[in-house]
Amino acid sequence: MEKQYIALLFDNKKIMIRTNRFYDLFNFGTKIHLMKFISKPYESAALRLPNRFVMAPLTRQRAGVGLAPTMLNATYYAQRSSAGLLISEASQISTKGQGYVNTPGIYSEAQIEGWKLVTRAVHQAGGRIFCQLWHVGRHSHPSIQLDGSQPVGPSAVKETTLITTPSGKVEPVLPHSLTIGEIEATIADYAKAARNAMEAGFDGVEIHGANGYLIDQFLNDSSNVRQDIYGGSIDNKCRFGLQVVEAVVDAIGSHRTGIRLSPSGTNFGVFNLEPVATFEFLIHKLNDYNLAYLHLIEPVASSLENLPQYLKRVTPHFRPIYKGTLITSAGYTFATAEAALNDGLADLVAFGKDFISNPDLVERYAADAPLNSYDIATFYGGDDRGYTDYPYLLRK
Ligand SMILES: Cc1cc2nc3c(=O)[nH]c(=O)nc-3n(C[C@H](O)[C@H](O)[C@H](O)COP(=O)(O)O)c2cc1C
Repeated sequence: MEKQYIALLFDNKKIMIRTNRFYDLFNFGTKIHLMKFISKPYESAALRLPNRFVMAPLTRQRAGVGLAPTMLNATYYAQRSSAGLLISEASQISTKGQGYVNTPGIYSEAQIEGWKLVTRAVHQAGGRIFCQLWHVGRHSHPSIQLDGSQPVGPSAVKETTLITTPSGKVEPVLPHSLTIGEIEATIADYAKAARNAMEAGFDGVEIHGANGYLIDQFLNDSSNVRQDIYGGSIDNKCRFGLQVVEAVVDAIGSHRTGIRLSPSGTNFGVFNLEPVATFEFLIHKLNDYNLAYLHLIEPVASSLENLPQYLKRVTPHFRPIYKGTLITSAGYTFATAEAALNDGLADLVAFGKDFISNPDLVERYAADAPLNSYDIATFYGGDDRGYTDYPYLLRK
């Protein structure tokens, strides 16, 4: 292993030591703190981040009138703006793309104005924020669709899990299989939403290609039984997602475009006969776009029992394939995040639930401080409780 020289400051006198250790040592007075890898800045052609913490996209179902963000949402995001990068909660690109109540949109003027409150507050607090662009596809219900219509998907195949509606969990309905014309219109909706996100002041967008929603429904065999150019072979199943990437890149530029994928995800009953080959093909292709980043979700191990075709860990498998900035996420602790960065598995690590309950997650890690625990009851919907009232370590 190559030896590294690091600078040590003792009572403001600088000395150099040789070390194999990956930590930088800094002196504050006479007390020495370890500066963790995750606390170091990250720079790429597209991103300039003060640290490697990413706040994962987190649906909170607290949008206001017209599904537009409000000052409450602005406060929530600004509170968390010490993260290197914030990714907004998933935001539907069209009315058709909505699958839950009170999730924000990014398709109307009022929504753009609402998001401006959020982006301004985050930027004023020194942060950076990408907007996650979302279409739920078949994971919706007529009672959630604003016009009461049938949800859409790659194919007329029902989801296997219940759908949460305002009147409780209900059986899914048969989705309408998108025609080629409707697919083209949906791709145009993604591009328009990306332009809207720029108008709203976001620093970029993250295409939600994960977790059993529309793009993932195209990628998976259980939800895509099409026999045209969007189904059947691996390149056909990847076509829709890649066309969305291309349209968004054309609309706002590759350096402002990221994508999130769940290569071993089985959310809402999506099932892939050849997940590794499918995502290897897709991720190889993504190299051509020079994106701001690829964001991978690690699977929950228990969801893959008796499914030998799935990778139990996706980041180590895809790291050598993807040439650009890689974010890994799901289930990380500080220690495992630190190890992933040190091992070169990823460039950035996203945290979800810990950011819900710790607005100052970054500062807490730097101080080795304990974390607030999160309250699942207030994850989805409600007011400021469980949203903007989690305590800081040191009240600002
Ligand atoms: C309340 C909640 C809302 C979520 N909303 C989204 C979302 O809008 N988009 C998305 O891609 N993932 C969403 N996720 C998944 C998270 O981004 C993240 O992958 C997951 O929480 C696992 O990471 P963690 O173990 O650090 O919490 C959500 C998770 C939770 C708990």
